[in-house]
Amino acid sequence: MHAEAGADVRERLSLDRGWLFHLGDVVQPPILGHEESYGNAKAGSAAGAAGNEFDDSDWRKLDLPHDWAVEGPFDPKANVAQGYRPRGIGWYRRYLRVDAADRGKHFELQFDAIATHATVWVNGNVVTRNWSGYNASYIDITPYLRYGDALNTIAVRADAEAMEGWWYEGAGMYRHAWLVKRSPVHIATDGVHATPRAGKGKSWSIPVEVTLNNSGKQAADVTVEVTVFDPAGKQVAQRTAAARVGVLATSTVQLPVAIDNPALWSLEKTNLYRVATRVLQGGEQQDELTLHTGFRSIRFDAAQGFFLNGVHVKLQGVCIHQDHAGVGVAVPDSVWEYRLRRLKELGVNAIRFSHNAPAAEVLDLVDRMGFVVMDENRNFNPSPDYMKQLEWMVKRDRHHPGVVLWSVFNEEPVQATEVGYEMVRRMSAAVKALDDTRPVTAAMNGGFLTELNVSHAVDVVGANYQVPDYDKYHKAYPDKPFTSSEDTSAFMTRGEFKTVKEKNLIASYDDDAAKWGNTHRDAWEAIATRPYVAGGFVWTGFDYRGEPTPNEWPSVSSVFGIMDLNGFPKNAYYIHQVQWIKDKPLIHIAPHWNWSGSEGKEIRVMVMANVERIKLLLNGRALGEQQVDPFRMNYFNVAYAPGKLEAIGYRGGQEVARTAVETTGAAVALELVPDRAQLAGDGRDAMPITVRALDAQGRAVPLADAQVTFAVTGGGRSIGHGNGDPNSHEDEKGATRRLFNGLAQLIVQTNYDGKDAVTVVASAPGLVAARVTIPVKPVAAQPYVAEADAPLTFVRSWRIAPDSDTRPDPVQQLAGFDMNTWGWGSPPMVAKAGGKFHLYRSSFTPRKNLADGSGRLRFASIRGKAEVWLNGVLLGKKDGYAPGALDLPLPAGAGKRELNVIVEAEPGQGSGIDGNVTIER
Ligand code: GAL
Repeated sequence: MHAEAGADVRERLSLDRGWLFHLGDVVQPPILGHEESYGNAKAGSAAGAAGNEFDDSDWRKLDLPHDWAVEGPFDPKANVAQGYRPRGIGWYRRYLRVDAADRGKHFELQFDAIATHATVWVNGNVVTRNWSGYNASYIDITPYLRYGDALNTIAVRADAEAMEGWWYEGAGMYRHAWLVKRSPVHIATDGVHATPRAGKGKSWSIPVEVTLNNSGKQAADVTVEVTVFDPAGKQVAQRTAAARVGVLATSTVQLPVAIDNPALWSLEKTNLYRVATRVLQGGEQQDELTLHTGFRSIRFDAAQGFFLNGVHVKLQGVCIHQDHAGVGVAVPDSVWEYRLRRLKELGVNAIRFSHNAPAAEVLDLVDRMGFVVMDENRNFNPSPDYMKQLEWMVKRDRHHPGVVLWSVFNEEPVQATEVGYEMVRRMSAAVKALDDTRPVTAAMNGGFLTELNVSHAVDVVGANYQVPDYDKYHKAYPDKPFTSSEDTSAFMTRGEFKTVKEKNLIASYDDDAAKWGNTHRDAWEAIATRPYVAGGFVWTGFDYRGEPTPNEWPSVSSVFGIMDLNGFPKNAYYIHQVQWIKDKPLIHIAPHWNWSGSEGKEIRVMVMANVERIKLLLNGRALGEQQVDPFRMNYFNVAYAPGKLEAIGYRGGQEVARTAVETTGAAVALELVPDRAQLAGDGRDAMPITVRALDAQGRAVPLADAQVTFAVTGGGRSIGHGNGDPNSHEDEKGATRRLFNGLAQLIVQTNYDGKDAVTVVASAPGLVAARVTIPVKPVAAQPYVAEADAPLTFVRSWRIAPDSDTRPDPVQQLAGFDMNTWGWGSPPMVAKAGGKFHLYRSSFTPRKNLADGSGRLRFASIRGKAEVWLNGVLLGKKDGYAPGALDLPLPAGAGKRELNVIVEAEPGQGSGIDGNVTIER
């Protein structure tokens, strides 16, 4: 878990539900008058969609995570690097009701990431500008809050015209949102620093440091208690310390704990310890936060590469972007689990999240599943705003045992210069100030042989490509640890075995790579045969949208992946798998064996195996035997005849592995293969389902291209689909998808409070339909903030005329430049006994659906007699002095209305508008 909710004193509530969305900017008319200019400049007065009152009744309702760019059509005129997906600007709004009983608590809004430039308003106050699509925003909204029925408004403008990358970046609120409720004295967000350190022998320590905040009105004397639990849940250390936190101040408390002989975290045994921090005041718990960490030692050796817990590990890594078929960058956590599982099956032990910090939940998975990670900063810039982005990443991620390298940049043109060196020196120092247990690296595509460059400011030199310089660098700097930070950049289209230039299809024999890169085999051979190279990070583990290199339109997605955008293996998968997995015999054959029309012609057959010798047979007839070549793989030219092509692998003369490809008949039926046996009914759990076509004997047909239509019923729904075709322009959210080289993937997600099984029916013309029913296990929803509807408009901002003893003229003029003769207020507005008459003035624009005259103007309470004037006409009266509600029909019509209210006090009594004023149906 990232940060679990503790006792009832801290609530971390999901804020994913109940957002309103508008695609496109909402532009306000220019502000011209003096009064409007004055008002516009005031706290809480943001105009239009940013403001408190805005008619969003026709906006689309949706739940996060949400990527709008993946919903729209492709456009050949849009940016190639972003996959020809128009991005643009979008707005989100959400209403929030806060219980009056929660007054005094501390409220923090958390957005895990928004693509790309985000501006956030709460109740008309701008509260954050986050200029990175990969960083979280933590916003203390306590001072702006309204309690009870007076709803709060959150507005977010996401500008995804801004770009931080040259790959598909998606658009909008694509990660989770949270509301965290805490006591006034509480642990700051990311405020527990718990990174273990190795001592002598088997003794370890965690120099825990806890940062506390106090938003209360009194200084707080508290006790901070840290307890460490081992993987079995047994307490292994505890320590307390006293602290004083001043009013609206921060305190830092040190609580170093010693742990003897802990169970180490490794790639195979992901032992995770829990560090629970509690804050107590007068014996009462105020806050509680639990995070996990792990004990492991890491070392990058200049001669021998990487060591984990003293054991040498060659980094068998991949670079990956956050992008999946059907969902874009809004990848559900459970689909991340699927992706990482695919990588594990491939033999990957290291991941570089390029070129940005991943979602927090992804690093939790990494720790649990056993990978080491290069955690990479997006924006290369040591100026204060950008340094904060880097520091945020380190603070959030330093407790993760999986993280073993901090990368400050990827491929910066200034890398070979003094400027680059000076910039990295500062960024590296900022990282070390927060975590000095991990080396800092930078992914350089050259420049490391110049006199002064970035390599002089990092602990581990990362090389993107540059294979011919590996040895030169090592010879010049034999004491500097070195790794490939990125390599390969080879091209292949899943399931294709013939390059067809005019169709942008690239064969899968691993013959094609970018000029700056290498084939899969060449890149790994260069790394594997050099002990000083700590390892490699293949560009990329999965295809991603954008960068359709070496093609352009109509190609919309990259073809660099070892797997396609769905996580379906390409041939590169088998090449790496047999190189990376050593503890079980593996053998694969490419291509498929459906070459009707090529009878008698030679087909190039590639056999990939991690055994000693292989033998190939066609329809039982031996075609030859070869010694396995672990780097180049094995090849045969086979005259095609339909049937069964079989490969047998031997070790020590014994058969240890066998595989075959068979010529199939025509497709007769569809098949659906769910990734897991059941779904959790929490509204979040999502599962990829493989869609394929079978022949009459039940064999998957490799070239099937049926147009499949999906129907999803029961306790879930489709959230998108893909087929791995880099040239497909099909709607990823629609009801149908074509199989591409035999495969497609549908992703279903449960509904909130899902109890009913999810049934998927896939049908295609001429094929027997497939049906699968996935059981849904009812589970408690993650605690969440209830949706709040605001079908009403609050009339909040009022001018108040000076008291008078005689009845004032309700429609008297007030000069537009006069900001001082009349006062300002918001209900409740109660004048003490004194003046007899009070005049209140405001304006409002009713929601569009009230233009028909169905609206009501409601005063929850007026104290005194009252006259209500609307646009210069008397609308209604309240006759008694006693406090009471007034409910009046709102005349039909659209546009802005002026409201004047005269309140007449009972002699000697207070009077005024002392309750909410709303426009309702
Ligand atoms: C690298 C870059 C990657 C990707 C790759 C394609 O230069 O770091 O982000 O663009 O090239 O080959």
